[in-house]
Amino acid sequence: MRVLSGIQPSGSLHIGNYFAMMRPAIELQEEHEAYIFIANYHSLTTVREAERLRTLTLDVALDFLACGLDPEKTVFYRQSDVPEVTELTWLLSIVTPMGLLERCHAYKDKIARGLSADHGLFAYPVLMAADILAVQSNLVPVGQDQKQHVEVTRDLAIKFNHEYEEVFTIPESQIQENVAVIPGTDGQKMSKSYGNTIDIFSSKKKIRQSIMRIVTDSKTLEEAKGPDTCNIFALYKLFATESECQDLADRYRAGGMGYGDAKKELFAKFEEHFASMRAKREDLEKNLDYVESVLDDGAERARTTITPTLDAARTAMGLA
Ligand code: ADP
Ligand code: TRP
Repeated sequence: MRVLSGIQPSGSLHIGNYFAMMRPAIELQEEHEAYIFIANYHSLTTVREAERLRTLTLDVALDFLACGLDPEKTVFYRQSDVPEVTELTWLLSIVTPMGLLERCHAYKDKIARGLSADHGLFAYPVLMAADILAVQSNLVPVGQDQKQHVEVTRDLAIKFNHEYEEVFTIPESQIQENVAVIPGTDGQKMSKSYGNTIDIFSSKKKIRQSIMRIVTDSKTLEEAKGPDTCNIFALYKLFATESECQDLADRYRAGGMGYGDAKKELFAKFEEHFASMRAKREDLEKNLDYVESVLDDGAERARTTITPTLDAARTAMGLA
């Protein structure tokens, strides 16, 4: 089976990205033909400074390699190194109803807030469909908020196959049910746009500060507490085993434990999980030529996969 996922280089990656998308996508490399790419064409819709986009793109490459992406197993590339994707975007836009894009949330939300959108944001889901269909992916691991985009991709593939020829595989999204929406430090969905993230590779000091900022109710140390409504506990669950969770839940319910202690335990778990990855990232930072060569090689392999599909689409439409 072939799997593909992508992430935008539009800010520092956080544990919401990690548990919902990065880790599940990386794990699939063991048993499937995996493709992961850095969606820098997509980021152009929000990042307007060239140098910042370059830095963020490199950061995502370092983050994925540090978190265990194995470039021998996964085809890992920068979207803009595979310009075939943009040609396919145009071909797909021919079978894209305006109404379908008008219902997509990124665009709809912007319009609802009274902001004017540009064509890039409006057409964003078609570019995403091209990413997925170009490699004939069967499965797309993403967080809940990307499900709609995979539905659009399916609609476009079905329409193209029906109106022209059977060119595209119909993909399915894969959502990690237990981590569909990971809360941020304020209890809303963790998102770089809300300033409520715990980033995976910022300094220890910043990570501790983010964890200490997690919002709780105002119960005193002595009072019994409810683990199921607590943001600290929701994040602790991502790192801990079932018996560790049970143990902490018992201590919540018994009273006599303050939220400060729960935060310390969360920080310890965070460190245990990410310490070796942080060390690996530091090594990679000293070897940027290697990182570049991984991305170059990935782009070449991706183009080899994509070219026959693009040719088939061109032929089906009468261009070749
Ligand atoms: P952000 O909301 O921080 O801008 P992105 O939109 O770039 O994050 O998301 C990248 C990937 O991570 C997507 O697959 C998205 O669904 C997933 N993701 C991001 N934040 C969360 C979260 N808080 N809970 C679950 N999944 C998330
Ligand atoms: N839109 C996705 C996000 O914001 C990133 C993305 C672009 C993507 N193309 C993709 C994800 C193809 C999966 C498959 O997170």
